[in-house]
Amino acid sequence: MIITKQLLLRRARMSDLDDLHQVFSNPAAMRFWDSLPYQEIEQTQRLLEAMIAASPDESDDFVIEHEGRAIGKAGCWRLGEIGFILHPDHWGKGLAHEALSAAIPHIFENLPIDRLEADVDPRNDASLKLLSRLGFRETGRAARTILVGDEWCDSVYLELPVATWRQTAPD
Ligand SMILES: CC(C)(COP(=O)(O)OP(=O)(O)OC[C@H]1O[C@@H](n2cnc3c(N)ncnc32)[C@H](O)[C@@H]1OP(=O)(O)O)[C@@H](O)C(=O)NCCC(=O)NCCS
Repeated sequence: MIITKQLLLRRARMSDLDDLHQVFSNPAAMRFWDSLPYQEIEQTQRLLEAMIAASPDESDDFVIEHEGRAIGKAGCWRLGEIGFILHPDHWGKGLAHEALSAAIPHIFENLPIDRLEADVDPRNDASLKLLSRLGFRETGRAARTILVGDEWCDSVYLELPVATWRQTAPD
């Protein structure tokens, strides 16, 4: 568990289902995700079960709790890869930056990786800005990497080497 100024980052539990379904069924939150907004609560349940079952050798992923509610998730969801999502009611207040600033040192301490990677839709300005502020740098781009519904989406690839993080991270 990690406590920050405004957030609690903790492992997922099944009682997060209703709160997280509010996030994963939200069209704005899911606009640049790798699937359409979840229609069925069973889809969120499967994601939650995968989070709970994930091996601590390969994943360091957190539910983000704010004022007693689960408002999203952030962390390393599969070895080396960072992911994050917040309910739009909580956007624009610096909460994603606060969550990831705390999660990233935990990830580098707990997983056998020397860099974190991200795969972001080039239209996803908020995520690109957030990652840039955290020190991630673009390493490449590719077109038509994922089909979401009937829309082909592109990718920007970014990485944060642990050495860069150590040089730039706030104390
Ligand atoms: C990406 C996301 C987590 C950002 O959450 P947030 O709490 O609003 O982000 P923060 O407030 O911490 O902002 C971080 C930076 O991004 C900027 N930012 C936030 N929203 C932005 C937007 N819509 N356009 C451009 N920049 C934006 C902020 O200004 C801030 O930069 P600054 O400090 O230099 O001003 C949120 O928009 C989200 O959940 N998006 C949907 C999920 C998603 O796309 N996940 C990534 C999949 S790869």
